[in-house]
Amino acid sequence: MKLALIGYGKMGRRIEEIATARGHEIVSVIDPHAKEKTSRLGVEIAASFGAANAAGVAGAVNNLGGADVAIEFTQPDVVVHNIQELSRRRIPAVIGTTNWYHRLDEVKRVIEADGSRLLYAPNFSLGVNIFYRVVSHAAQLMDSFPEYDVGGYEIHHNEKKESPSGTAKILVEKIIAAMKRKRTPVWDALDRPPQPEELHFASLRVGAEPGAHAARFDSPADTIEIKHTARNRDGFAFGAVRCAEWLANKKDADVSQRVFTIDDFLEDV
Ligand SMILES: NC(=O)c1ccc[n+]([C@@H]2O[C@H](COP(=O)([O-])OP(=O)(O)OC[C@H]3O[C@@H](n4cnc5c(N)ncnc54)[C@H](O)[C@@H]3O)[C@@H](O)[C@H]2O)c1
Repeated sequence: MKLALIGYGKMGRRIEEIATARGHEIVSVIDPHAKEKTSRLGVEIAASFGAANAAGVAGAVNNLGGADVAIEFTQPDVVVHNIQELSRRRIPAVIGTTNWYHRLDEVKRVIEADGSRLLYAPNFSLGVNIFYRVVSHAAQLMDSFPEYDVGGYEIHHNEKKESPSGTAKILVEKIIAAMKRKRTPVWDALDRPPQPEELHFASLRVGAEPGAHAARFDSPADTIEIKHTARNRDGFAFGAVRCAEWLANKKDADVSQRVFTIDDFLEDV
């Protein structure tokens, strides 16, 4: 598979290594702020979609080296522009950048109009997405046993900007969707006992923890805690590459759906 990387930051770099180890070829890298001229594996880094290549041929990266699929990990203020650039070239796009989902309808219209394909996920870790399913199933079972209360917590390094994490918000949404007797999340500080319909979820910021999320079912007799702990960023990079392989193989003949999430990939496999 020929792969284009849009964004050569922490994620772009790991994806280059993991994709290459899986036998894929990186044919194009775009990052306007990269300090290096070439990627670690020697691919020229272009400043934009329309930039000239090293030989000065304008538009030489326009088809992104014939990429079968692109993986985009940049930042929220540029991602929609990048999606448009990929869409009009009809290069299937895997989008890891977060915090742009309020523009999802606009993006869907672009992808449909161009006849392209896109897959996005707020969290590409296969482990986290499987964890969501395990917790949802446990919450559904626990709903019939009111002696089990449910809550949770997440831990991240002390440089993380947001609290609670996006992953925690999705986890809590899934628990509440699965349990009739829990309706209201209460984040962080709680200076009173929780109401029966409340679900208390705490966020801790400390040290270098890459990310841990736990759901805790607690009865007078025992505790069941289901916990996902990330060791590093490789889980995200690996999941994005797996999704790129899957999206590249979705044939143009199947036009019933053009915008996918990681759930579609998981359902399929
Ligand atoms: N979905 C997931 O699983 C997941 C996992 C980790 C990070 N993320 C998200 O992915 C994004 C990137 O994360 P990161 O850790 O690699 O960040 P990073 O800051 O290390 O890298 C972002 C890169 O994008 C580049 N960039 C900026 N504007 C660009 C443009 N117009 N075109 C191309 N490149 C451009 C920057 O120069 C930088 O190198 C963030 O939004 C982060 O929240 C998502």
